[in-house]
Amino acid sequence: MNNNPIGIFDSGVGGTSIWKEIHSLLPNESTIYLADSKNAPYGHKTQDEIISLSLKNTEKLLSMGSKLIVVACNTATTNAIEILRKKYPIPFIGIEPAIKPAALKTKSKVVGILATKGTLQSSLFSKTSELFAHNIQIIEVVGEGLVPLIEENKIETREMDLLLEKYLSLMIAAQIDYLVLGCSHYPYLIPQIKKILPPHVTIIDSGEAVAKQTKSLLEKNELAGPAKNNPTLKFYTNKTTPTLIHLLKDYSQRISISYMDF
Ligand code: DGL
Repeated sequence: MNNNPIGIFDSGVGGTSIWKEIHSLLPNESTIYLADSKNAPYGHKTQDEIISLSLKNTEKLLSMGSKLIVVACNTATTNAIEILRKKYPIPFIGIEPAIKPAALKTKSKVVGILATKGTLQSSLFSKTSELFAHNIQIIEVVGEGLVPLIEENKIETREMDLLLEKYLSLMIAAQIDYLVLGCSHYPYLIPQIKKILPPHVTIIDSGEAVAKQTKSLLEKNELAGPAKNNPTLKFYTNKTTPTLIHLLKDYSQRISISYMDF
């Protein structure tokens, strides 16, 4: 049994979509979330830059007592998780585009993936798609500009709709029946995406799978917190922005959100 917090980081506010799944499955676990919004987006940075930001976030979470770390960012996972796992002795859980379930279920044999450039160009992503998607067509589209708009709290805007229409029209024309969201920011766009996609297209994101994996690794490593607990749920951002508060408004009575330079 271990009452230390689960550490979670993302390039910004998007990983809160993963935090919500983790908190819902593991309500007694304390958590510390780092939103590295000052350095968002990670998607266009070099692999070396993404690795050094991931190391910085990990060091911070370790200094705050994290017992396990969830890399709630596809770009950081696909570019840096192997290095984090080699360097630090605690368990890491990453998030990757859910190609496997989409590839297994698609009937049209065409699957769309919306993700950052950094994720789509990573060798980990290439390996996963070669492994699971060799007999289907994958339409990869970089969601250029989506993360900055979400970070600026411009989610339900005409600007966002226009970008989504542009990116999804390529996939609709190719007759996808599954859309994989390969960025932890994108679940916040699902209501708008649903309005654009034909109704038979299924949207898949990886949040629930990450939460289940977190639970299973906590149990396997005997790191789970006590069953009855009064968990602390702390969020830190290094950029003053109303977005984090907005996205977490349903939890405002139970969480704390603070500014911290990291
Ligand atoms: N949430 C990050 C991801 O899942 C966004 C990447 C970015 O900052 O560009 O990839």
